[in-house]
Amino acid sequence: MDWNALAHPWIEHEDPIEAAHSPIKDGLLGRAALKVGERVLDIGCGSGALSLDAADQVGPDGSVIAFDIAEAFISHLTERASDRVHVKPVQGDAQHYDFSGADCDAVVSLFGTMFFEDPKTAFANICKALSAGGRMVFVTWAGPQHNPWFSVPGRALAKALPEMPKPDPSAPGPLAFANIEMVTNLLSESGFQNVSAEEVDTHLTPIGAAADITAMMLAIGPFRGAISKFGEPEAENALLEIIEASMIDGYGAFAAEDSIKVPARVIFYTASRVA
Ligand SMILES: C[S@@+](CC[C@H](N)C(=O)[O-])C[C@H]1O[C@@H](n2cnc3c(N)ncnc32)[C@H](O)[C@@H]1O
Repeated sequence: MDWNALAHPWIEHEDPIEAAHSPIKDGLLGRAALKVGERVLDIGCGSGALSLDAADQVGPDGSVIAFDIAEAFISHLTERASDRVHVKPVQGDAQHYDFSGADCDAVVSLFGTMFFEDPKTAFANICKALSAGGRMVFVTWAGPQHNPWFSVPGRALAKALPEMPKPDPSAPGPLAFANIEMVTNLLSESGFQNVSAEEVDTHLTPIGAAADITAMMLAIGPFRGAISKFGEPEAENALLEIIEASMIDGYGAFAAEDSIKVPARVIFYTASRVA
């Protein structure tokens, strides 16, 4: 995935994305139980909502390394965190970056770990950022059958582009860590102990109506690429309209009083480095 290219629309839609993820970010922070003065590493920090909240929890005597592969996210966060000197934005690939000396008390990640080409190498490397006994808490999505956030656009794409092959559920992507047994084994094989997983049903609380959510998902998702790969070039706009209408219908089904509440299932994984 070209995260530098994806970062721009993501940053443009930062407010509704962060609003959508907010209950899950709070669940993650609750499980991480960060303490004043702790050193934290946020993997795949994106535009940085989790890093900023973590920084507020550890205070200026602690620190947060906000780590991401995309330079565009890192320069955005450098500006966004300019009033918090204890947030240190760092660009790098978590699979290979030299974390020695980071000596962190905690690693956290909000949907930032499912995109590694080599997850075992990545987690073994991330483990080196922790001090002995340090903890890791990250959250991923459960399968698409529990997450209309993804199945609504997935169904819309499949309807408009029947030629498109079904995505491989274990390929790097948002849904790659839905298989708890696979991920807990992976963590144990990467040097972690006390590995556990907790599935939680929750709701996403994005800002706006179904049409706004659709516009946001179309901007940050892989739709245009899929249309140009599997659709007729002259039919691009018509296909986009079909996809858009189907997504508006799909998200509209979750209209609550004055907002959209999309049911979601996530998995909180926790583990620690051998003491
Ligand atoms: C779905 S986004 C989540 C962003 C942010 N944590 C949030 O919830 O808003 C995934 C993030 O992981 C980052 N990422 C993907 N592969 C990475 C890698 N190998 N090393 C570090 N960051 C990576 C992407 O650039 C992106 O910011």
